[in-house]
Amino acid sequence: MSQSGNYTSPRRHLIAGNWKMNGILEEAQQFVAELAENPAPDHIEVALMPPFTLLHPLAEPLRQKGVQLGAQSVYHEPKGAFTGSICPVMLRDAGCHYVIVGHSERRDIMGEANELISKKLNAAWENGLEPILCVGEHLEERQDGETNSVLRQQLSVLEDAPEGAALTVAYEPVWAIGTGLTASPEQVTETHAFIHEELTRLGHDCRVLYGGSVKPENTAELMGCAGVEGALVGGASLQAESFSKIVQAAASVAAGA
Ligand code: PGA
Repeated sequence: MSQSGNYTSPRRHLIAGNWKMNGILEEAQQFVAELAENPAPDHIEVALMPPFTLLHPLAEPLRQKGVQLGAQSVYHEPKGAFTGSICPVMLRDAGCHYVIVGHSERRDIMGEANELISKKLNAAWENGLEPILCVGEHLEERQDGETNSVLRQQLSVLEDAPEGAALTVAYEPVWAIGTGLTASPEQVTETHAFIHEELTRLGHDCRVLYGGSVKPENTAELMGCAGVEGALVGGASLQAESFSKIVQAAASVAAGA
């Protein structure tokens, strides 16, 4: 059990690598082989979200190494004429436990809004997938003092969530994603506290990860902030060496080292 600030976290912290639109089979196999050289301690959970094309081939090698598999997105319909889409049953069939929902790139580039995000969450739960719901404000919103209202609005998709639904939330300030900027420990602590409060109000008690330019050098500081129970890592998850360093640094923090 680790304790950070006001939050006691009996849950295993999660380090999840989101490869986004990167990776082909050969690179992925190499990555898994390198990752195996530095196995994660049991008290930390590790997951990888490669592109859809790599889910099936990576499922078994990752399972053998105790790494969970997740997808980066899902469509809510169960099957049919939805060209280019992937449904929850397909993700389960490919070996996924997790699915990212509401990532800012899908909100901003693909125009996904709360209504669709809600449907995706429900489809994930109905099919035994654990969604990682991403929330986060844009820079102008933070500068205008709107961070909390944006987060409240994004978290409102959980209003009708089934009781006890498997859930992880990731706080990812949009201005920190892929920019090399990270939220300060004060911003992370304050914002995670607000998110935990909102989750409690909505009847959920779940892990809240931090995401946005997490690197080996800043992992310990970010993971040491109250209310942070892991990380969603983009760019730095593409190399096994940096991803492993993040996992090891987060494991030390979670162990109270
Ligand atoms: P980044 O991406 O680590 O490259 O900033 C994080 C994310 O988008 O999940």
